[in-house]
Amino acid sequence: MRVLVTGGAGFIGSHTVVELLEADHQVVVVDNLSNSSLVALERVAGICGRAPAFAKVDICDKAGLRQVFAEHRPEAVVHFAGLKAVGESVEKPLSYYQNNIAGTATLCEVMAEHGVRQLVFSSSATVYGDPETLPIREDAPLGATNPYGRTKLFIEEMLRDLHVADPSWRIAILRYFNPIGAHSSGRIGEDPQGIPSNLFPFITQVAIGRRDRLQVFGDDYPTADGTGVRDYIHVVDLALGHLKALERLAAGPGLVTCNLGTGQGYSVLEMVKSFERVSGRKVPYEIIARRPGDIAACYADPSMAQKELGWTTIRSLDEMCRDGWRWQEGNPKGYSETE
Ligand code: NAD
Ligand code: UFG
Repeated sequence: MRVLVTGGAGFIGSHTVVELLEADHQVVVVDNLSNSSLVALERVAGICGRAPAFAKVDICDKAGLRQVFAEHRPEAVVHFAGLKAVGESVEKPLSYYQNNIAGTATLCEVMAEHGVRQLVFSSSATVYGDPETLPIREDAPLGATNPYGRTKLFIEEMLRDLHVADPSWRIAILRYFNPIGAHSSGRIGEDPQGIPSNLFPFITQVAIGRRDRLQVFGDDYPTADGTGVRDYIHVVDLALGHLKALERLAAGPGLVTCNLGTGQGYSVLEMVKSFERVSGRKVPYEIIARRPGDIAACYADPSMAQKELGWTTIRSLDEMCRDGWRWQEGNPKGYSETE
C-alpha cells in the first residue's frame, strides 16, 4: 500500500516507518522537522535498506500537501504530526490549536480532495483526564485537563463528525498510553529537545551522565509504593499497532477507537529498578513534591485493540529498558552527534 506518514521523522513516526517499509509498503513522510531531525530518516534507511520518500512540508500548508498527494498518490494516511508538550501547550495554546487542530482539518480536506479516506490518528490516553476506574476502557468518560489534551479531544470529535457526514471514511483513532524504548538496532530512538519532561528519557539521561539525578514527583499517591503508575508500551509494539489498524481499515469502512497499551501499570520506582537491573547503571533519585496536573495511575484495558485490530503487545518492560538504553548509550546526545 502507498502510505503517507505525517510526523514520520519523529519518535513514534520513525519507528512506524521502519515497520511499514519492512512490511513492503511504499512510504512518503511529510514532516516540517520542528521537533525532529532528518538523521532519523537516514537511520531508518540504514535499518531497512531503502529510504522512505520525504517532503519537508507543514500540515497547515494546503498547497504543499496538495503537491505531495498529487505526486505520491497515497492510499492511506498515518497522522502523527503535532505538538505534544503539555507544559508548552499551557503557555502557547494558540500554537497548539493551530498546529494540531487546524493542521488536521487541512490534512483531511486535502485527503478528501484526492479521494483518500483512510486515516489512522495518534490520540492519547490524556483524553481520559483523571480516570474514575482502572483499567481504562474506550467508553470511559472523556475530558482533557490542558490545551494539548483538548486538541486531541477536539480532533477526535472532528473525526467522528467527519465519519457521520461521510461514512465512506475509514478512521482508526488510537489512544496511546506511555510509549518508551527504541528500535532493537539502537539506531533510532527518542531524542527530546532540552530537559526531558517524561520519565523514561530522563532516566536514560541520568544513567548516561547528562543529568545528576532523577526527581520523583511525589511518593504519596494511593499506589502500592506511593509513586505514579503508568502503562509503558514499547514503541515498536505501538508502531505495529498502526500496521494492524491499516489492515483493519483496508478490510472495511467504519470508525474504530482503540487504546494502545499493555494493560499493565508500573510505578516510577519499579521503572527505576528495572532500568538499573537491565542497564547495570545506578539511577540516583530524590523524592520531591507532586507535579501539578499529574494523576496517580493510568493503565489501559487493551482488549478492544485485540478484538478490532488483532493486535496485542509482546515486548516486556525489560525489553523497553534494554532497547531504550542501547539507543541512549550508542547516541549519548541523540541525533545531534552523528558519525
Ligand atoms: P514527535 O515530536 O517526536 O513527532 C511529531 C513529529 O511531527 C515531529 O517530527 C515534528 O517535527 C512533526 N510535526 C509537528 N508539527 C508539524 C506540522 N505542523 N507539520 C508537519 N510536521 C509536524 O512526537 P511523538 O512522540 O513521535 O508523537 C507522535 C504523535 O503521537 C503526536 O501526535 C503525539 O501527540 C502523539 N502521542 C505521543 C505520545 C508520547 O508520549 N510520545 C503519547 C500519546 C500521543
Ligand atoms: N515522573 C517523575 N519524574 C520525572 C518525570 C516523570 O517522577 O522527571 C513521573 C510522573 O509523575 C508520572 C510518571 O513519572 O507518575 C510518568 O510521567 P511522564 O511524564 O513520563 O508521563 P505522563 O503519563 O505524565 O504523560 C504522558 C505524556 C503526556 C500525555 C500523557 C497521557 O507525556 O503528553 O502521557 O497520555 F498526555
